[in-house]
Amino acid sequence: ALPQDLAGRRVLITAGGTREPLDPVRYLGNRSSGKQGFALALVAAARGAAVTLVAANTSLPTPPAVDVVPVGDARELQAAVQFHLPGSDVVVMAAAVADFRPVDVRGDKIKKTPGTTPDPIALTTNPDILAGLVRDRAGARNPVIVGFAAETGDADGTVLEHGRAKLARKGCDLLVVNPVDAGRAFGTEDNEAVLLGADGSAVEVALTGKHALAARIWDAVTPLLP
Ligand code: C5P
Repeated sequence: ALPQDLAGRRVLITAGGTREPLDPVRYLGNRSSGKQGFALALVAAARGAAVTLVAANTSLPTPPAVDVVPVGDARELQAAVQFHLPGSDVVVMAAAVADFRPVDVRGDKIKKTPGTTPDPIALTTNPDILAGLVRDRAGARNPVIVGFAAETGDADGTVLEHGRAKLARKGCDLLVVNPVDAGRAFGTEDNEAVLLGADGSAVEVALTGKHALAARIWDAVTPLLP
């Protein structure tokens, strides 16, 4: 039996990858499968938490006893997070949220006109949901906020360097840094990570299953709970 160290806690997790519509049939998306976020939800529920999982475009089975809220694009994900935030003890932003979206969504499918060059796609910036959560923190029951960072880099420490800079910039309590070069992380069964704490701590988790990594992430979160 797992420790019930999240009993009585409410956790809000985002997973998957947002899709930003371009026209009725096309979107800008990313390679996130949602597996790490679903693993976090499953493990948290097994450790006693009440879990809400905001899932962007995933095709994974609903973990036992987890409340799944499906969303499509970044703004829907943001609205779902804001709706489910009150009363949460922990928010884990594992979703790959699109940084940009097309300025206008065409009502009709974009047609190809033979002999002409297609129009460029104009983009605008999406809200940074994680940064917004940190900015809006107030009051006695502040949730612990966990961010994710998929970083490219090599063994010379650039992944860590980028991770520390991002932790400082985003202002979250814990940042899960995944190296994504060489085809790792996205869609695979295994994952490796460094868990960077706002207190300067760094826990390296060598390549392991996504459920095992989820357990290590919750081990890092529980001491941060009030
Ligand atoms: O800046 P970057 O996209 O690498 O940051 C990744 C982290 O920020 C993830 O936790 C992701 O869920 C979150 N994020 C967000 N809103 C965005 C972009 C990323 O909350 N628009």
